[in-house]
Amino acid sequence: MNVTHKSQSPATMPAGVKDDFPILTKKTNEPPLAYLDNAATTQRPREVIDAIVSFYENSNANVGRSVHSLSMIAGDIYEDSRRQVADFINAPESENVVFTRSATESLNFVAMGFGNAHLSPRDEVLVTELEHHSNILPWKELCARTGAVLRVVPVDQTGAINIETVGSLIGPRTKIIAVAHVSNMLGALSPVKEIVKLGHTVGARVVVDGAQAVAHLKVDVQELGADFYCFSAHKMYGPMGIGVLYGTRQCLNEMTPPLVGGGIARDVGFDGRPTQYLQVPHRLEAGTPNIAGAAGLAAAVCYMRDIGLDVIERHDNALVRLTMDGLRDIPGIILYSPHGGPKGVVSFNIEGIHPYDIGNHLNSCGVAVRTGVHCAVPMADRLGAVGTVRASFGVYNTDEDVNRLIEGVRGVRPGTWSKQHPVDRFLKVAH
Ligand code: ALA
Repeated sequence: MNVTHKSQSPATMPAGVKDDFPILTKKTNEPPLAYLDNAATTQRPREVIDAIVSFYENSNANVGRSVHSLSMIAGDIYEDSRRQVADFINAPESENVVFTRSATESLNFVAMGFGNAHLSPRDEVLVTELEHHSNILPWKELCARTGAVLRVVPVDQTGAINIETVGSLIGPRTKIIAVAHVSNMLGALSPVKEIVKLGHTVGARVVVDGAQAVAHLKVDVQELGADFYCFSAHKMYGPMGIGVLYGTRQCLNEMTPPLVGGGIARDVGFDGRPTQYLQVPHRLEAGTPNIAGAAGLAAAVCYMRDIGLDVIERHDNALVRLTMDGLRDIPGIILYSPHGGPKGVVSFNIEGIHPYDIGNHLNSCGVAVRTGVHCAVPMADRLGAVGTVRASFGVYNTDEDVNRLIEGVRGVRPGTWSKQHPVDRFLKVAH
């Protein structure tokens, strides 16, 4: 960071943060970019880019396979990143952290590595209606494979999960409960601790999709009590192509390797003897891992820590409030407003105008937002909307970015984009 900032006392984000992000300071951006699509992916600070470049320039080798010095250095970088991530989410040990490709892969790994081995016909998996497809489809497919039944917790239009409804839907056959910590469409914060407590009364494993939480609030996996917690680096200023699967040691040990291959076994033979797999986390990381990605993720963790999670949370909340206050008076505005305020995102519509027309107009003003169903069709259906416009915030966003969003929305007129590009259901989903 360009500005030294301690996390103990500060009330606001330091002014120089935007300068840490090369893509945001390009003089060629015309109009200047107000990047408000952080829930889709954040931008990366120079430190993260440098960590990746430095790995390839100075330390590139494979890990866990050779005894030469470069391999040892690469191994140290990789395992140090695991420690940093464990510390970041307050995991008991670094062995609780498995590196994957993404939050999506982490969730699929739980479904395949844990679900396949532990579910029988008529067992039940519980998901909520507000989930991202990444936290629906692995469970739908798991149920199709095993004969288990998928049950769905309905939510209201604010994305609120009623804990009594959860209680009424679980029972002795509930084996897995999958829930987003923060919903990607609305930013609604789920009552994860309560769901974990309820789930554990019937022996269910609780899997939390933390993809939209880690960049916005301090995550403490032990305090939440989650059995599994999944997230991606690219939504928290780290690189694309690396994700995290946290699991308690017991739960990780109960998983079979979802992928098999190099780097996960100590003995393999053709004579009928059983394959001897390594201990977790290594036996769940088949193939050459994304070591440069791990280095970048560790740099992202350090970057967020240097700012301070408390500062980040206050900053996000202030931008969310400013956005909601600014949008509220605009004629025809429909604001989707979770109880207690959304975390890191504001979703909205304007009556009679397609979200893509709004997004297209905002783009012409240099304001980048996401439009559509946000890979959460059941939640869009619950809202009765073809989609929404979603502004989502990061550490570099400023009041000026929000003001430009609001000015842009004020200028929206019924548009032609959606007429020129007919939007069918498939296209909405694909977007
Ligand atoms: N899952 C990301 C989003 O919600 C891509 O935008």
